Amino acid sequence: MSKVFVTRQIPEEGIKMLADKGYDVAVAQQDGAMERGQLLKAVAGVDAVLALLTDKVDGELLDAAGKQLKIVANYAVGYDNIDLAAAKERGVMISNTPEVLSETVAEHTFALLLAIAHRIVESDTFMRGGKYKGWGPMLLLGRDLSHKTLGVVGLGRIGSLVVKHAVRGFDMNVVYYDVKQNPAFEAEYGARYMQLPELLREADFVSIHVPLLPTTKHLMGEKEFALMKNTAYLVNTSRGPIVDEVALVHALQSGVIAGAALDVFESEPKMAPGLEKLDNVIITPHTASATIETRAKMAQLAAENIIAALEGKTPPTLVATK
Ligand code: DGY
Repeated sequence: MSKVFVTRQIPEEGIKMLADKGYDVAVAQQDGAMERGQLLKAVAGVDAVLALLTDKVDGELLDAAGKQLKIVANYAVGYDNIDLAAAKERGVMISNTPEVLSETVAEHTFALLLAIAHRIVESDTFMRGGKYKGWGPMLLLGRDLSHKTLGVVGLGRIGSLVVKHAVRGFDMNVVYYDVKQNPAFEAEYGARYMQLPELLREADFVSIHVPLLPTTKHLMGEKEFALMKNTAYLVNTSRGPIVDEVALVHALQSGVIAGAALDVFESEPKMAPGLEKLDNVIITPHTASATIETRAKMAQLAAENIIAALEGKTPPTLVATK
């Protein structure tokens, strides 16, 4: 009987699919990410691991599992927690959960864009603090999204959906940067391709949608913030280390940019000192994909990947190992 280890509680739908196959499924019961020593022990002898982005999957973990390990199914679209070369060396398949979360993350991106532009969190705090003394023409003025320029950095699945919402929902002008230009997409949405520095100079809102790679770490730092308009906002729902968070705090404190809305942080769960004190910042705890529907779909897709691997088939969303 194949053994599967799930490193943290996830929606039941995925666990049930695995259990229905008759696998011996163990699910970690702790609250929060598994402690490394425990994780290394828990994976010993299993055929498949359903891992989370909070688990570091490297050679040490793969060796601790043993030679029978066939797949590590990551419960996330991003897989920067996984050493792909180590997996390849050991012949272990890696899968992720693309597509099923794109709409939800794009929605969350818009929730952040709207909330930062309309100062929703500040307004809520203001009301709860008993500060509202009646309507005022200059009270808590925000910014429109409509007809403004959105700069999308990374035109993958999520970035493309964000562009669609921006153009169709808010008549925004869109400029984008990606390693690949997409003329068909440009024609459909009137998006203009440009290099990052140009985009930063032009955009009123900059939204990050690139994966974390050695080439994208600190893609946004002091130099890049300096290129942005001092009325512009930064939104990040991709990975924290893409933004130099200390430089971001300085840029926000000194008015280099107007504000930021962040779902991800450089050293989660920590934040750079000072970030939480700023009124021109909205922060959510890496919950851009956290809806009941999407988290269930992620669990099912991770389970499908494991089932395929254990049945000797190609997992539907196999990550190409380098
Ligand atoms: C991912 O999938 O990579 C997100 O960060 C969590 O859903």
